[in-house]
Amino acid sequence: MQELDKIIIEAKRTFQAATTLPELDQIKGQFLGKQGVLTGLRKGLSQVPAEERPILGAKFNALKTELEALLECRKNEIKAEALKERLDNEKIDVSLPGRKQALGGLHPVTRTLDRVTDLFSTMGFSVASGPEIEDDYYNFTSLNQPEDHPARSMHDTFYLDDGKRLLRTHTSPIQIRYMEHNNPPIRIVAPGRVYRVDSDATHSPMFHQIEGLWIDDRATFADLKGTVREFLRRFFEKEDLEVRFRPSYFPFTEPSAEIDMTFKDGWLEIGGCGMVHPKVLKNVNIDTERYQGFAFGMGLDRLAMLRYGVTDLRLFFENDLRFLSQFVV
Ligand code: FA5
Ligand code: MG
Repeated sequence: MQELDKIIIEAKRTFQAATTLPELDQIKGQFLGKQGVLTGLRKGLSQVPAEERPILGAKFNALKTELEALLECRKNEIKAEALKERLDNEKIDVSLPGRKQALGGLHPVTRTLDRVTDLFSTMGFSVASGPEIEDDYYNFTSLNQPEDHPARSMHDTFYLDDGKRLLRTHTSPIQIRYMEHNNPPIRIVAPGRVYRVDSDATHSPMFHQIEGLWIDDRATFADLKGTVREFLRRFFEKEDLEVRFRPSYFPFTEPSAEIDMTFKDGWLEIGGCGMVHPKVLKNVNIDTERYQGFAFGMGLDRLAMLRYGVTDLRLFFENDLRFLSQFVV
């Protein structure tokens, strides 16, 4: 009997000393395992006198149950301690700034193209497009610029290997393509890439234009100026813009003008415009007795330069992310 009580005290002490589950498991073996203390005791039972055996037997069983309960209890304590320790150490600081994902963005010229197109849409223009590879007829001839016309040298053209096809030098051929399939009244814009053998701070071999075309029975040069000015006011979000219409020449408009805005110490040309030449309307079978109108073609990269204060247009096309990632609006 005394021995049994001693075992309980001893067991409590060792259980308490165990701090991990594997440690506890080992101690469990010491007491309840095959070679454990209890097994030894059970063997000893057979040597006690027969009349004492039931009492001792009952005591033995009670001891075993108690040990098992103690063990279970300590096991739960150890688990709870481990959990508490984990929770204490693995604190999540929700006030820490998150890790930033690198986000891509639209190219500043793409932003400009989208914005300009949207602004013209709100002014009642629909959007048209045409191919970047054109032929002589659409890029030149139909626009009143026949083969030997001196104005052809105004554009330094990239030709394809067949010597016939070319990279369009302006968006004006879209005027022709559109008028071939649509009758007046017409009010469209057509943005896109264009190409010329050209390169300096304000010229790139690949650049972007937006063409505008407005044909009805009464559109005048005053409407042209009003439309361009209103667009520029909306684009630059400024009322008192310095815009200059400078008399100029295009084979496909008469009269013609170029549009300049102030830039650094002087002026920067942003586009050309004029009243559509009757010969152009005749080329697409529009009745010139009944219809007239105006057209314009603006350099989108130049507009982006002015809006963002960039002084060398080639920066837009060098693809240096340190430069490009600065443009978020
Ligand atoms: C034209 O291309 C005419 N098609 C515009 C036009 C349309 C006139 C309809 C009348 C009626 P121009 O060659 O001037 O015109 O070019 C128009 C604009 O494109 C220029 O004012 C300039 O803003 C831009 N531009 C021209 N060449 C380049 C270039 N190499 N790089 C960047 N922008 C350019
Ligand atoms: Mg020009």
